[in-house]
Amino acid sequence: MRRVLLTLLLPLLLPTYKATGQPRPTDFIQELWYKKGVVYNLDVKVFQDSDGDGVGDFNGLTRRLDYLSDLGVTVLWLAPFQPSPNQDDGYDISDFYGIDARLGTQADLRNFIQQAKKRGIRVVMDLVVNHTSSQHPWFQQARRNKESPYRSWYVWSQQRPRDWNKGMIFPGVQHETWSYDSLAGAYFYHRFYRFQPDLNAQNPAVQAELRNVVRHWLALGIDGFRLDAVPFFIEVPGTSVNNPDLQFDLLMWLRQFIQWQKGDALLLGETNVAPKENKQYFGQYGEGMQMMFNFYVNQFLFYALATGDVGTLEKALEATRDVPTTAQWAFFLRNHDEIDLGRLSKRQREAVYARMGPDKNMQLYERGIRRRLAPMLANPAQLRMAYSLLFALPGTPVLRYGEEIGMGDDLRLKERLAIRTPMQWLAGPNGGFTTARQPIRPPIQQGPYRYANVNVTAQRQDSASLLTHIRRLIRLRKQYPEIGQGVWQLRKSHSPHVLILASEGPNRTVVTVHNFSPHPQTIRGLFEGARGARGIGINGKTGPSPIDKTGDIQLPGYGYGWFTIEPKTNPVPPDGKSTSGRATPTGRGR
Ligand code: NOJ
Repeated sequence: MRRVLLTLLLPLLLPTYKATGQPRPTDFIQELWYKKGVVYNLDVKVFQDSDGDGVGDFNGLTRRLDYLSDLGVTVLWLAPFQPSPNQDDGYDISDFYGIDARLGTQADLRNFIQQAKKRGIRVVMDLVVNHTSSQHPWFQQARRNKESPYRSWYVWSQQRPRDWNKGMIFPGVQHETWSYDSLAGAYFYHRFYRFQPDLNAQNPAVQAELRNVVRHWLALGIDGFRLDAVPFFIEVPGTSVNNPDLQFDLLMWLRQFIQWQKGDALLLGETNVAPKENKQYFGQYGEGMQMMFNFYVNQFLFYALATGDVGTLEKALEATRDVPTTAQWAFFLRNHDEIDLGRLSKRQREAVYARMGPDKNMQLYERGIRRRLAPMLANPAQLRMAYSLLFALPGTPVLRYGEEIGMGDDLRLKERLAIRTPMQWLAGPNGGFTTARQPIRPPIQQGPYRYANVNVTAQRQDSASLLTHIRRLIRLRKQYPEIGQGVWQLRKSHSPHVLILASEGPNRTVVTVHNFSPHPQTIRGLFEGARGARGIGINGKTGPSPIDKTGDIQLPGYGYGWFTIEPKTNPVPPDGKSTSGRATPTGRGR
């Protein structure tokens, strides 16, 4: 009887569902996994070796899945793992369907993907199709024989083009974009190094091959792709090196094809472009790439970290605000390349160099810095504040392996290899990366960032470690999906050093404050009139920062705080200690 009554009454108890009928657009957005993900980028060959040959492999990575799952990451982005002469650390692929034999077999990869899925972790891989290795059989055939069908897979010129020495991506190291090949008797085009000839993506035969490549990896269980060098992939060859025509439908077409193969597969673009170009890559209505790295904000974020001034960072955030509803920014602090500061003014770039990369040896390609974050910031309070901010930015956070423990760099290694040293698991030989005498790349053994000092095992046992801090931030971020999915706003802090972001969801607003200055700052009246504002515990400590009756917040140097405003309820904070009616930051950069 009670059940019958309940069934009859239920529709009356749920008037909103009845009344609206249709799901709200936000309901659909909430299902987009890439919007609520936490991405972790790693290179299998330097992560964990399982067979003692000195090279990391899929079986080693599989063994470390529990660690990654405990850290809380939900998406792994794998650097290229296909066969390669490794002249560009694997970004020079010589077989798009294979796996570098040192890293394992296809069965190992499948097993890894399966085990990752069991833990709710998705796997995304690099898709490097702007170019091949010059040792790829396609290029070898193309250069040897004019009649080869592969000839038109690349971009050739009989004469040396006028802009042959313009548009280099690696200035200082790379000297031309058109190089003469004596076997071919012609010049070939390469945006990147000479050993990376550009594929002619305009050619339908190349497009058909790309479809095969994508289909191959999706069938093996891959959840999506980080598309390498997007603006160069879509450039129409031969139009102009400095200002090429771009064929955006290639992206729309790729997205459609990928989605046709696997409905929820992701296309994440490496797209370092000016804000006004973003729409063309995302697509007017989100029909392009679902996600792109926000390189623009990244550069101004480093400027803010270097100078303590958040004004230009705020402008950069506003400049990249406009994205289609289903699209999303990927935010990061450091990635596997140099920090590209090419969009800063000369004066701004000099300011970042002066603070974070003063030696010539730390700088690269006339525009960037080849260092890891921990040594660059050096101040642990600033480092923690920076990571808190990463998880507070209105997009999906992307962490680079080793960042979570504050790994350092080895500036003796060439170019970007300085920041690609093996993962540091423990204090023992080779930092636990391998038992081999000759690791593929030397783990960091000297200085303050040596594996004896900086490693996972030690930090896991330490509740005050950077690893613990980042694990907490990830958990926090998952608890507050308003960040990344809600509607965000910058709030005025009246201090040039404090960034305040508010993200509004249907039920509450999450507000974060970050002090970029080494000196204490007071934020006045932030929660004036906002009933039910409260601090969220970040650092696990009770004892919130002082806040006076007017709702002012006192932030220590490099301090930060996360708050919620839940207007209608009388909330109980996650730590169970109600501070209703007050706003209290508990995460402080000390
Ligand atoms: C972009 C990658 O991030 C970088 O590491 C690589 O060298 C170039 N693409 C060339 O593939």
